Amino acid sequence: MLRLSTFFTRKKIAEAVAAPSAPDALSVEQIALIRTTFRKVVPISTTAAELFYDRLFFIAPDVKPLFVGESGSPEMAAQGKKLMAMLAIVVQELDNPDVLMPAAADLAKRHVGYSVKAAHYAPVGEALLWALEQGLQDEFTPDVKEAWASAYGVLSSAMIQAAYGREAA
Ligand code: HEM
Repeated sequence: MLRLSTFFTRKKIAEAVAAPSAPDALSVEQIALIRTTFRKVVPISTTAAELFYDRLFFIAPDVKPLFVGESGSPEMAAQGKKLMAMLAIVVQELDNPDVLMPAAADLAKRHVGYSVKAAHYAPVGEALLWALEQGLQDEFTPDVKEAWASAYGVLSSAMIQAAYGREAA
């Protein structure tokens, strides 16, 4: 399979996949699958975001108090929009590490200020895959699942490393 070595530098790939269950870097085919399936989720992004947060708070109820808006109560509709906008940038820049890596590192460091811990990245990834499965239905094939899981794995490992250090990733 053709590997896209531009996704991350070799050193970054080695660091990102250092965690035991971390996936390999993405192939060109996987990036294409992610882009096509994300385009199908965009028109239903409000529902997808709702599904994502419902699932997240079901599997990881302890993270719910972290999502407190300016009003003091969760503003999940606004939060869902921010998440989808950020995912759109990630999907667009998957093969452009010079843009993606600094943005992911900054995002991860801001998340430390939201009281997010390294351990929270796993349930967020699980909820993301679950929401994609609900949104895409039959089109959520094993290849599509693997592509998204790999992308989230590489991205979250890089974010965890940027925010909490190499040993946490
Ligand atoms: C790839 C992973 C993730 C992406 C793309 C993402 C995206 C975002 C974005 C775009 C924002 C808006 C604020 C900003 O840009 O700083 C945000 C805020 C936030 N995220 Fe994430 N996030 C990710 C992982 C996580 C994880 C693992 C948690 C843990 C539960 C989390 C919890 C939060 C919280 C609590 C806020 C602030 C909510 C508020 O304003 O009240 N995120 N996230």
